[in-house]
Amino acid sequence: MPDYQLAAFCMAVYFRGLDGAETFALTDAMIRSGETIDLHAAIGRKVVDKHSTGGVGDKTSLAVGPIVAACGVPFGKMSGRGLGHTGGTLDKLESIPGFRIELTTEEFLQQVRDIGLAIIGQSANLVPADKLLYGLRDVTATVDNVSLIAASIMSKKIAAGADAIVLDVKVGDGAFMKTIEDARELAEMMLELGRHAGREVACVLTDMDQPLGHAVGNALEIRETIATLRGEGPADFTELVLSACAHLLAFSDLGVDEVSGRGRAASAIRDGSALAQYERWIEAQGGDPAEDVLPTAPVVRDVKAPTGGFVSAIGAVDVGTAALRLGAGRQTKDDDIDHAVGVLCLKKRGDAVDAGETIAQVHAQDKQAADRAADEVLAAYTFADEAPQATPIVLETIG
Ligand code: URA
Repeated sequence: MPDYQLAAFCMAVYFRGLDGAETFALTDAMIRSGETIDLHAAIGRKVVDKHSTGGVGDKTSLAVGPIVAACGVPFGKMSGRGLGHTGGTLDKLESIPGFRIELTTEEFLQQVRDIGLAIIGQSANLVPADKLLYGLRDVTATVDNVSLIAASIMSKKIAAGADAIVLDVKVGDGAFMKTIEDARELAEMMLELGRHAGREVACVLTDMDQPLGHAVGNALEIRETIATLRGEGPADFTELVLSACAHLLAFSDLGVDEVSGRGRAASAIRDGSALAQYERWIEAQGGDPAEDVLPTAPVVRDVKAPTGGFVSAIGAVDVGTAALRLGAGRQTKDDDIDHAVGVLCLKKRGDAVDAGETIAQVHAQDKQAADRAADEVLAAYTFADEAPQATPIVLETIG
């Protein structure tokens, strides 16, 4: 179809919406626009996958993959790049020297068979209709429609072939879905699409009102992933990772429930098998898993609290945008990523701070960029005299 007709179709859907049957039909047509993979048949076992709707500091798949594989469950995933202020798994992985995100489908399957884990870029022929539609939605202000988002995500997940899928639906300032009601609507639609295609699906609705963990920026997020696999990760990120692993292991052919799935995931961190699995995986895709080979930024600037009290909010979009402007993301489609730069939000919502205490760190290429980002990060923080009400990272589970 020519672009002008597709763009008109997107705009019509944006204003009039699609009902359930129409959303199924669109998803089905998108799946049939390219190749599909039968991971179950290729691996000979039940394969699990996870997907996030996109957030700031969201490196969840990078920790979940090695943990799930260390527990003996094959994990094969095709990931995407950053979009706007949100980061992409592939961009993060490319901060690892030598890491190859482009494997052939056969190499991908062989690696899942051999070491139980592969994360690669989406193969060119998997849902080509989404590539076209997504590009057009991006430039016609029609991204933000529940049916179009659900069809875009689920067509790729279904075509990529996992038996069971855990969907992390982000809610809040840094997410596409700003309210819990909108997130529920998207989650329920994606559940229906998955079930319709014979897949097991669970949705976790998770907080994206502040960046996830501390690190925002590619190599910084890889370091935080390694720390988390060592058992030294930030509390909110570790909790989200364990919760996603619990769902994935409960879906697997291990025959465990969520409680013991969570226990196995926690043991894989404690006994070092998750970290060993991470190293095997990175090496299998040509990368060097050592932390000291990751790029570092020449200028590191501390951001200090102007006043004492409690952190009451951290604008996720503002921090994501500050990191993007430092070079961690793309301002235009063809921009190169600077893997070294980014932001560490050392103090999170609810933390007590003293006046003058370091609340965040900016990692930049030069002083001017560091100064600008430090101002932007400080402006993203809000302080209060009293601690805000605690919000759990997992807000709700559906399915
Ligand atoms: N992620 C996708 O893959 N598609 C969307 O439409 C939104 C988020």
